[in-house]
Amino acid sequence: MDIGVFIPIGNNGWLISTNAPQYKPTFDLNKEIVLKAEQYDFDFALSMIKLRGFGGKTEFWEYNLESFTLMAGLAAVTDKIQLFATAATLTLPPAIVARMAATIDSISNGRFGVNLVTGWQRPEYSQMGLWPGDEFFATRYEYLAEYAQVLRDLWATGQSDFKGKHFTMDDCRVRPQPQADMKIICAGQSEAGMAFSAQYADYNFCFGKGVNTPTAFAPAAERLQKATEATGREVTSCVLFMIIADETDEAARARWEHYKAGADQAAIAWLGEQGAADKSADTNVRQMADPTSAVNINMGTLVGSYESVARMLDEVATVPGTQGVMLTFDDFVQGIEDFGTKIQPLMKSRRHLSKQKESA
Ligand SMILES: Cc1cc2nc3c(=O)[nH]c(=O)nc-3n(C[C@H](O)[C@H](O)[C@H](O)COP(=O)(O)O)c2cc1C
Repeated sequence: MDIGVFIPIGNNGWLISTNAPQYKPTFDLNKEIVLKAEQYDFDFALSMIKLRGFGGKTEFWEYNLESFTLMAGLAAVTDKIQLFATAATLTLPPAIVARMAATIDSISNGRFGVNLVTGWQRPEYSQMGLWPGDEFFATRYEYLAEYAQVLRDLWATGQSDFKGKHFTMDDCRVRPQPQADMKIICAGQSEAGMAFSAQYADYNFCFGKGVNTPTAFAPAAERLQKATEATGREVTSCVLFMIIADETDEAARARWEHYKAGADQAAIAWLGEQGAADKSADTNVRQMADPTSAVNINMGTLVGSYESVARMLDEVATVPGTQGVMLTFDDFVQGIEDFGTKIQPLMKSRRHLSKQKESA
């Protein structure tokens, strides 16, 4: 099973709590995290794009670096880890993203790929006059399909004459073409999002739902596999989890309860309002503010001793169609150190690493 890290490009990572570590995003912090992840054989690192924070006492995500420029910097200081940036597709024309990706492909020697998002929080875009109107909620994956087709054309052939409803290319050229097969990832959860991934993506991210429920995402992985039956392409799931691990289950649970007790309710309320703005039934963004675990956007949380977390991660690997997990931590530097030294060595689904090292 692949392991990735969802690096903290925004302040305070993914914990909306006054009791969680409070920090700003910097290149140096993300460099330290990605170098450590590389040292412990993580397969990939991804940064999101977020253009507007949630406010509240913690000023949650009011501070965010930009995804492509951050990954370009990280590409220059790493050697083997795969890197993914996220394109906010309403803000950047596909021919520019194709060229930025080709540039980072060159910096990284073929270790780069792109996460495509339609955007779901109106204020991120309306603040700069780029929100197309609320009808976009219903058509966003149609827009993204055209966008992805232009990217695929440009990367494969260096040229595009695509003519669609949203994009018109006129002998558009982008060279150099990337040296490696440029991977596209997406995190669509809706039917339209999964249909998009089945057609255009290589991996689809989904949320690991609930606390200590490692296989609760299985229905999402199954929906994705169903969607690929229509396209005949191989697209696998990658599951997002937060890890809260400690010497004992009790110590880890106490830390989790402490974070929940400090939940920044004003920031969480803002998230809820944004999720509610999309009135279509077929959306999953509303669930992010569900009270069960709003303190970390309901991303799915594995809380326990190092042994318990290793066991739960091995359970994740048993779900058909699972490519890997992408991890977040309450404290990324300590969390990756603990993962590398105390969790990963116990995981059956990562045993291939020690075998590789023995035979080297
Ligand atoms: C791992 C992961 C990363 C995501 N990254 C971003 C991001 O950077 N920016 C963004 O606006 N949305 C992001 N999203 C939201 C998704 O793109 C998507 O809109 C959401 O999962 C709901 O699915 P839907 O669009 O099919 O309704 C992310 C979701 C996941 C699970």
